[in-house]
Amino acid sequence: MTEFNTRRHLFSNSMLDNSMAIFPANEELIRSNDTEFRFRQNSDFYYLTGFNEPEACLLLIKRKGLISSVLFNRRKDKTAEIWHGYRLGQAAAVTELSMDQAFAIDELEVILADLLTGIETVYYPVLSGLSLDTRLQTILNKLRNKTRSGLIATNQFLNWQPQLHEMRLFKSDAEKELMRKAGEISALGHVRAMQQCKPGMWEFQLQLEVEYEFARQGTRDIAYNSIVAGGNNACILHYTENDKQLKDGDLVLIDAGAEYQGYAGDITRTFPVNGRFTEEQATIYQLVLDCQLFALEQVKPNISVLAINKLVVRKMCEGLLALGILQGDLETLLQEEKHKDFYMHGLGHFIGLDVHDVGNSGSIEIPRLLEKGMAITIEPGLYISNDADVEDRWKGIGVRIEDDVIVTETGCEILTSAVPKSIQDIEALMHG
Ligand code: GLY
Ligand code: MN
Ligand code: MN
Repeated sequence: MTEFNTRRHLFSNSMLDNSMAIFPANEELIRSNDTEFRFRQNSDFYYLTGFNEPEACLLLIKRKGLISSVLFNRRKDKTAEIWHGYRLGQAAAVTELSMDQAFAIDELEVILADLLTGIETVYYPVLSGLSLDTRLQTILNKLRNKTRSGLIATNQFLNWQPQLHEMRLFKSDAEKELMRKAGEISALGHVRAMQQCKPGMWEFQLQLEVEYEFARQGTRDIAYNSIVAGGNNACILHYTENDKQLKDGDLVLIDAGAEYQGYAGDITRTFPVNGRFTEEQATIYQLVLDCQLFALEQVKPNISVLAINKLVVRKMCEGLLALGILQGDLETLLQEEKHKDFYMHGLGHFIGLDVHDVGNSGSIEIPRLLEKGMAITIEPGLYISNDADVEDRWKGIGVRIEDDVIVTETGCEILTSAVPKSIQDIEALMHG
């Protein structure tokens, strides 16, 4: 709880005096009639509270330099708890979450109006397409209306996202520990997939082998929908159907990560369904692996992911030229970005509570430089689909290799190395 308390205070330091910041929790989402999807807390709300229930809202209030944390959450309710499960309630919210005050969520609007007396600035999230949009907008609209009627002095509405997301970009020691664990569990899931994979299996069966290992290792959550893509399906970047049979002689690409106490792992491995790479598969695989290892060597403070990718693209184009998959002059190919026919995504992204984590990554003109404590993925790939304009022998080969790292003072710490990626080690594991 000290960690969450410290975060609230750190954030409050950036708040203007006589201000309030509003952080809504996620709402439950209906799956069908009266059943819901498994609940996942809003990452910003969780980052500041460690509280995992829906129907909640955190207020940070700064008055005359003094900071207080106020939580709104569900009331204790015997019947609801018999049917649906435990609720923390208000008394325990104060002691267990070290809040200064806690109120029932059904009193939010009334008490909020009260707490707003003398508040000059309200910080709120500028949301896009989230389920809590409407509710928050209703409250804010009411506030604005009251402002106009002169009842409340609030005259400034600001977005808290830039400050909070800048904080989330730099992982604390406690967060690094959780990310190491997420990385290790994710890796063990991929190891199990390599051990269990056989021609004729369905992609979703292999998916569940990965996710079963996550559970065996101590977490039931996945960080995103797992991708298990046999053969040409690997060329569909966000393939999540996972409903085809794995064929002897094909590769399979698995992009899957466990979520451990809110923190994401994000790993991709590509391996032969039958345990042996063909010559062409090995050639493409080795090129991607060389690019990935090279990229990992470049990760350190003061270089951008974009700059590393530029070096990777050059290396990749040299390789594709040597194989005859690209033809022409290297500099012209680079200038015309011809690699995008086969490598159409970026090199990596921030990772943390969200798999594609928040944080300002700058612009194409002025990309953000890496700093110690940031966490990113490194995930180059080559995707040669069946309809590519290349020799037949290369078709249907899609390869991505992805690891998660934390930037250190001089380089990076790889969080996901418990799953092999050299051709030799993969084949040894699959035949062991
Ligand atoms: N799993 C999503 C990604 O690799 O970005
Ligand atoms: Mn990724
Ligand atoms: Mn991934």
